[in-house]
Amino acid sequence: MKILLTGGAGFIGSHTAVELVKAGHEPVIVDNLYNSSKKALERLKMITGKDIAFYEADVCDPAAMDDIFAKENFDAVIHFAGYKAVPESVTKSVAYYRNNLDTTLTLCECMQKHGVKRIVFSSSATVYGPIEESPLVETMPSAGCTNPYAWTKYMNEQILRDAAISNPDWSVALLRYFNPIGAHESGLIGENPKGIPNNLMPYVTQVAVGRLPHLNINGTDFPTPDGTGVRDYIHVVDLAKGHVAACNYLEANAGVCEVINLGTGTGYSVLDVVNTFERVNHLELNKVMAPRRPGDMASYYSDPSKAKELLGWQTEKTLDDMCRDSWNWQKNNPEGYDS
Ligand code: NAD
Ligand code: UD1
Repeated sequence: MKILLTGGAGFIGSHTAVELVKAGHEPVIVDNLYNSSKKALERLKMITGKDIAFYEADVCDPAAMDDIFAKENFDAVIHFAGYKAVPESVTKSVAYYRNNLDTTLTLCECMQKHGVKRIVFSSSATVYGPIEESPLVETMPSAGCTNPYAWTKYMNEQILRDAAISNPDWSVALLRYFNPIGAHESGLIGENPKGIPNNLMPYVTQVAVGRLPHLNINGTDFPTPDGTGVRDYIHVVDLAKGHVAACNYLEANAGVCEVINLGTGTGYSVLDVVNTFERVNHLELNKVMAPRRPGDMASYYSDPSKAKELLGWQTEKTLDDMCRDSWNWQKNNPEGYDS
């Protein structure tokens, strides 16, 4: 299939482009490079040996997107494009709602006009809201969202559910990612956060490479086995393969609209991640025990059985792989794509 990847130059999109090529599909990337770099595209060529078609465009721009849909004959869309920093979404809420909702609405209009009937959407486990009863199952109602970023994911899911009702021949997959980390084993592509990272793994790798002085272990008194927060970390290459499986599922099942968790089903604590990172990479991190971040949950992990059942997909990589590959990317690219 020829598949449009909005935001395909970003962290998850670039890894998905590699896996789509490997599976015999033809990805086409549209990205405005707001949070990514043209270097990612050069690296994609090094990994795949292919010139992946790239358009530098804003997915909120209806005329630009209409042109691209008219030129390319897409069989499916994977919609990664969006802003994703939770704290920033609180201070720049209007920009988050504008970008994260407008991209989806523009895409839906283009799909309707150009007869494209399959869409995979990058949702997030965050839409479950503050629920302390993991594993999280797709049938659980949301407990409400705690920040504008999460609300944009929640609202996008609803927009796409309604679009699937208005367009009964569409097939839609709303993929709720848990905590993507790791990088391609080549070390050529990886996560490239702007400014100081909010998430654990990029913070860890930036401490290891000397860009940040120490890691705060945020919260040591959670009701978890070692007192630190437990999450469902998933290797980005496994996650990317989940998108290939979702595209194949949508091709074979016209008219479906499904919410699907993409996670491993296993929770690891902050100390599990830190200890594994130190062990597999033979280094020691400067770390400081620190208070909880406001609003953090003790434990948040998936039940991934629906993905296995519907998509025939499950994760293959281990926490060791995730820690090794994250470090391999960071040590080879200390300043990310600006190295
Ligand atoms: P990323 O920032 O690396 O990639 C997003 C890409 O979208 C970037 O390349 C950015 O330049 C592009 N983009 C943003 N707005 C755009 C617009 N209007 N037009 C064109 N391009 C635009 O983020 P990522 O980690 O790869 O995440 C991809 C998607 O998955 C996002 O929607 C994110 O919210 C979602 N998600 C990410 C995580 C995570 O932890 N990384 C977890 C759950 C969900
Ligand atoms: C965050 C986002 C969530 C998003 C998810 C995956 C918030 C409130 N939520 O959640 O919307 O879907 O990432 O991208 O930001 N930690 C430290 N020190 C650090 C950073 C993190 O100890 O410097 C701890 C946290 O307290 C948590 C764990 O590491 O226990 C993971 O944190 P993080 O990577 O931010 O992910 P989430 O909290 O799951």
